[in-house]
Order: sequence, then structure tokens, then C-alpha cells
Amino acid sequence: MSATAKKSAPMADDIRAAKGGTPLVSLTAYTTPMAQMMDAHCDFVLVGDSVGMVLHGLPSTLGVTMEMMIMHGQAVARGLKSAMMVIDMPFGSYEESPQQAFANAAQLMAETNAGAVKLEGGVAMAETIAFLVARGIPVMAHVGLTPQSINTLGGYKVQGRGDARAMLMADAQAVSDAGAFAVVLEKVPAGLADEVTAQIEIPTIGIGASAGCDGQILVVDDMLGLFTAFKAKFVKRYAHLANDGEAAIAAYAEEVRARTFPAQEHTFADEVPAK
Ligand code: KIV
Repeated sequence: MSATAKKSAPMADDIRAAKGGTPLVSLTAYTTPMAQMMDAHCDFVLVGDSVGMVLHGLPSTLGVTMEMMIMHGQAVARGLKSAMMVIDMPFGSYEESPQQAFANAAQLMAETNAGAVKLEGGVAMAETIAFLVARGIPVMAHVGLTPQSINTLGGYKVQGRGDARAMLMADAQAVSDAGAFAVVLEKVPAGLADEVTAQIEIPTIGIGASAGCDGQILVVDDMLGLFTAFKAKFVKRYAHLANDGEAAIAAYAEEVRARTFPAQEHTFADEVPAK
């Protein structure tokens, strides 16, 4: 798939069929203007639960709610024409049972018009993924570093090293076998990501993984340099918008205090009634 060849938004099956082809391009988005900016360049856009950290100032993704995801999902949907929209299931909305997952996934899809949901977990979530797929809900899986599990993972560490390698392979295989149409591989060693990509039937979407994955995703605020609280090693900043924005705000503040803004071109002429 390429930005120029696309006519209408791809569906889950189109993403699955891109396995082994031109790498899939993806970013997160949370607002209409951001979605509009990336629509022509991305195969799919993820309304990520990273929204909690990058837009709402939360310390992790754990505090993100269904209401937040629906509101941001609706905003992103208004900005997309040719990229598929995938929406994250927030922490606590799917882990309890396949039935709980179905009810919440159906609500997310119905209220935002997303083409698929994403959820975190491998072997432990395979039954839930199969349950959703069998009932008409395409699922993107997410294995490796799963930020909703930082409290059990012990932090944002690289996953799949040493003894954990076999478990990561098993997780990726399990979600593929369960019917997921793609899987995000987050923060796993490059060699392992390549091995997973060669082994499983569905596209791997790397973030902190390998250029050999079937696609890549980044958090848009990270790659634009808008989120500066910290920078993961795997983030490449393609712009420095927080710096540019602060410089612009400082210039505005100076001009207001010096009464050089607004200038004449920003004001309206009087129309004084004739006496
Ligand atoms: O929420 C998110 O932004 C994500 C990406 C990091 C894949 O899940």
C-alpha cells in the first residue's frame, strides 16, 4: 500500500494482506487537525491510549477511560478520509472476560466508526481475540512492552531478552493464531522482532523493534517533538514543535507587553456615523 495508490480507507483484511510488502505506515492521533495532517501519509491511524500521557498529563495509560477514548476517537474520525482508524481498548475494559471485551469493543466501534480495536496481551488474550473476531470485531494485538502492564512488568523495560524470548515468540504466535489481523511489537530486540516477523502470518508493526517489521508506528507527539517529558530511545524526533511553540508564545507575550501586537493589520477601522 502507498499513500498515492490509496482511494478509500483500507480495512483489516487489506492491512493483513500487506504482510511482506511495502512497510505499513502508522502514527497515533487524538485530534481532528492531527488526523487531517497524517491522513494522506498513513495506512492506519491509531487512537492510542497514550492520549492519557501526551494530552492529559497522566503518569501512565492506566487512568484512561472509555469516555476519553470515545471522545478522541470521534475527533480523529472527523479528520480521516483515506487512512483506516484503529482504536485502543483502555485498561480495565477487556481483561475480565471475552464478554466484557465484546461489549466495550462494540461500543468503541459503534460510537467512533473505528475499523478495528487494539488490545494488549499475547497468550493470555488469545481467547478474547478469537471471541471478538468471531463476532465481527477486527483486532490488532500488542505484545512485548505492554504499557498497561507496567506494574507487573516492573517498568518500561526491553522485553523478550534471555529466557523471555520464547514467551514473546509464543505471545506473537498466539495472537496470530487467534485471528488478530496485525500485531504491534513494542520495545523488543531487533533480531527477535525479525524472527517473529518471519514466523507469524500477520503483519508486525514495530515501535522500538526493527526496520524489518512489516510496518512502523510512533506516537505523533513524540515524533513531532511536542511531548518532551521524556524521550524513549526508539523515538526519532522529526520536528521540535514544543520548542518552536514556546518561542512563538514568548514572542507574543513580548509584543503584547510592548503594545506592538495587535498591529494595524490585526485591528478594525472605525465607522463613525456622520453628524
Ligand atoms: O497507545 C499507543 O500510543 C500505542 C502505541 C505506542 C502503539 O499503543
